Amino acid sequence: MLRFSPYKCCISLTMKPSPALSKMSFSRFASFLYLLSFVLLLQTVVGVDPLFHFCSSSEKFIDNGPYETNLNKLMGYLYLAAPPTGSGKGSVGQNHDQVNGLALCRGDVSNTDCKDCITEASTEIRKLCPDNKAAIVWYDHCLLKYSNMNFFGQVDYQNRFYMWNLNNVSYPTSFNQKTKELLSHLAQQGFVNQKMYAVGELELEESKKLYGLTQCTRDLSSSDCKKCLDDAISELPSCCDGKEGGRVVGGSCNIRYEIYPFLVNS
Ligand SMILES: *[C@@H]1O[C@H](CO)[C@@H](O)[C@H](O)[C@H]1NC(C)=O
Repeated sequence: MLRFSPYKCCISLTMKPSPALSKMSFSRFASFLYLLSFVLLLQTVVGVDPLFHFCSSSEKFIDNGPYETNLNKLMGYLYLAAPPTGSGKGSVGQNHDQVNGLALCRGDVSNTDCKDCITEASTEIRKLCPDNKAAIVWYDHCLLKYSNMNFFGQVDYQNRFYMWNLNNVSYPTSFNQKTKELLSHLAQQGFVNQKMYAVGELELEESKKLYGLTQCTRDLSSSDCKKCLDDAISELPSCCDGKEGGRVVGGSCNIRYEIYPFLVNS
């Protein structure tokens, strides 16, 4: 088991719709747009922010020691190995200095975007967790995780966070039922393909649609993937009850639903 902090995060996915916007005069709105495009531009240059990260609470490595050398080698390997298939894992070094790591890109992300995300993640995680032997960071497009423990093939129930849309749906009971139905269906589908990834849609009332995604890291067996996803689905009432969108994101699997299409090609 990885020794990350058991801290559960609750961060919100989207801002509340701002009533201030409708009251803005045109010039203020224009400068707001300008500022927004500047911020977006800056984001493309500097990169996107991680969704969340955990640093291992206890064990640290020594600057420029063998562990760090192995970690650097592993990062260099993963960013080349993962993009062609969307996933990579590897171990470098032996005994106390062994580093195990994996990188996973969201199933729809292109090779280039996958590579960009892993590059960004491997730089950023070293800033966020400079000398921690184990760490994990999540982005919209990828996940990067490493540890001195060999965690391959084990469901990570410890590193997990939620995100949700602040907006409430009008009919929470039937909506919750639908999200569960869609994601459970995808959890069944996902583990039968090699990518351990599934996406799908469900019709809602008033010609609205519900979009869903499930994905596991590919070190898991099919049955563990299913276990991980079912466990994540069972968390939905805690985070996302009656919310327009929600995600349960973990170190071994993640689920997401939205009432808008959120994939690259949808
Ligand atoms: C959604 O419902 C919660 C709980 O009833 C409430 O606190 C919150 O303000 C609502 N959010 C919006 C955006 O109306």
